[in-house]
Amino acid sequence: MLDGVCRAYLNQCVHRAQPVDVGDGQVLTKDGFLECGAHGALYNPVDGSCAGGPCTGGGLTAIKLERDGDALFALALEIEPPEDLYELSLE
Ligand code: FES
Repeated sequence: MLDGVCRAYLNQCVHRAQPVDVGDGQVLTKDGFLECGAHGALYNPVDGSCAGGPCTGGGLTAIKLERDGDALFALALEIEPPEDLYELSLE
C-alpha cells in the first residue's frame, strides 16, 4: 500500500524474468523503490516503471485489484513468457 492505494505487480523482473524478490525477499529500498534482488533493477512503486538499473525500457506488469468489502482480490492474468526464455533445442 502506498499513499492509501493498494497496488500489485507480477513478481517477475523485466531484466531476466527472475522473481523480483529473489534472495532475502526484501524488495523495498530505503528510498521507496522496488528493487530486484538479482541485479538491482529499480522500479517505481507507483506504476512499476523502470527507475534505474538493468530494467531499461521495461516495467513491472501491474495486476488489477478488485475490492469487495474488506476483501481484496488480485485478478488472474494470462501471461506469455518471453520468447527467448524457453527457446530450447530438442536436437
Ligand atoms: S533479473 Fe532483475 S535485475 Fe536482473
